[in-house]
Amino acid sequence: MIETITILGVHSRSGTPEAVQRIDLKMGDVVSIVGPTGSGKTTLINDIELFADNNTQTGRRILFNGESAPLEYRDDPARNPIALITQHTTFLSDLPVLDFLTAHARIRTLDCSQTEGMVERTLAFANQLTGEPVVPTSKMTELSGGQTRALLIADATIICNTPIVLLDEVENAGIHRTRALELLRQYQKIFIFVTHDPRIALLSDYRIVLQGGSITKILTTNAEERQFSVKVTKLDDLLSAMRDKIRLGERLNTHELEGLA
Ligand SMILES: Nc1ncnc2c1ncn2[C@@H]1O[C@H](COP(=O)(O)OP(=O)(O)O)[C@@H](O)[C@H]1O
Ligand SMILES: [Mg+2]
Repeated sequence: MIETITILGVHSRSGTPEAVQRIDLKMGDVVSIVGPTGSGKTTLINDIELFADNNTQTGRRILFNGESAPLEYRDDPARNPIALITQHTTFLSDLPVLDFLTAHARIRTLDCSQTEGMVERTLAFANQLTGEPVVPTSKMTELSGGQTRALLIADATIICNTPIVLLDEVENAGIHRTRALELLRQYQKIFIFVTHDPRIALLSDYRIVLQGGSITKILTTNAEERQFSVKVTKLDDLLSAMRDKIRLGERLNTHELEGLA
């Protein structure tokens, strides 16, 4: 059972020591990684996914319960504790959704009696994240962007069921982010989002800040930000509603922002 993962920093791109030398992530933590383009966000995510042990370009080490990753994490894909979702993750399949999820569930669990329930839960989970429900008979390749992202997150959480889920700049448009965070928090996992979405950042427990290839600080979401996040959610909902109206060829007026007061 993984209880903590630890990131041990070493040096930045320019060789200076990393400001934050150690971060301990606990099961249940929801974390955002932030920083400008080129600051090293993907590199950090990759270090985690590769179980870096002073053998990547950063020299970082990732510890599981305080120790280097056991060999079985590498040797046995079924024991790999990490699911990584990137912008380039595609299901690469034109199977119907139901068949695809069933096949995946069969690979991940040895107990076949469980696959049906898993597939149902995955679909139900995905459909809570997207406004446009996924029809089980539709082909994977026909899903919209929002549906695909919702299904990727549900698949990683329920079928892969890894204790650690990494999401690298997975575009969040088209999914109910507040709902997603609420749902994800019901699972005892570590979720790490590379994102600049204020909604997700403010609903995270803390933000890991990167600059020039190194971790420069940790910002724990404070009481003011927590309170403020309610307003950010409202603002974001209003903006989405306006986007929908524009899409439908309607006019906008000054009343659109009234709900914000
Ligand atoms: N600590 C580091 N040491 C050396 N090179 C690094 C380090 N962090 C990032 N890099 C390099 O910097 C470049 C940009 O990093 P990347 O992770 O892609 O940034 P981002 O995802 O934030 O846009 C990459 O070529 C990466 O290999
Ligand atoms: Mg990146």
